[in-house]
Amino acid sequence: ERSVKLAPSLLSCDFSRLGEELAVLGGEGGADWAHVDVMDGLFVPNLSFGLPILSAARRVSPLFMDVHLMIERPERLLRDFAGAGADGLTVHVEATAHIHRAVGQIKELGKRAGVTLNPGTPLEAVRPVLGDVDLVLVMSVNPGFGGQRFIPGSLERVRTLRRWLDEIGSAAELQVDGGVTPANARALADAGASCLVAGSAVYGPDGARAGLARLRAVLGE
Ligand code: DX5
Ligand code: ZN
Repeated sequence: ERSVKLAPSLLSCDFSRLGEELAVLGGEGGADWAHVDVMDGLFVPNLSFGLPILSAARRVSPLFMDVHLMIERPERLLRDFAGAGADGLTVHVEATAHIHRAVGQIKELGKRAGVTLNPGTPLEAVRPVLGDVDLVLVMSVNPGFGGQRFIPGSLERVRTLRRWLDEIGSAAELQVDGGVTPANARALADAGASCLVAGSAVYGPDGARAGLARLRAVLGE
């Protein structure tokens, strides 16, 4: 297993060729996970895709489906997303009054539970559930759109969460999402990130395989 996982965001792929895009990610020089960005037009000011697209992806790909739920009150739909083929479900602390319950529900469904927070939310908001989750996601842009610029203060947030996770002996994945490029991937790994999401940096004009190779090169992998 690689030391830093790469999770391309399908949001930036060509939806008209979803099967082929997933085959590239699953092939030689491909991805560790597929990152699936679900947006509801309420929690974030954009709509992406939902259950039917996840089911379709699941049908054609054995990749780990890492589902990032940018939706209000995610507990309404956790069972449906688990049924549609999610392997991991990540919920925002800002989207529910009951983050602890939502995390418990994901685990009861037999899926990997993730928690995340927007760049403007104090890290303390996730601290009470750090011992319960399999993944913590640091949003390094305001969620809603691919192709935004990395917010520099996110690096320090990764360092702090790395320290908190180590302090409690947690092996949870520490993931970063938003504006990840070959220019900051190394620094993020050094700060303690174990999984990098990348959309536009992977799906450049020369395709996902080349984009992944550029990230692996700076990671020394
Ligand atoms: C942002 C999404 C991200 C996004 C990443 O709302 O959660 O996963 O697609 O795209 P890039 O890497 O282009 O910032
Ligand atoms: Zn995402």
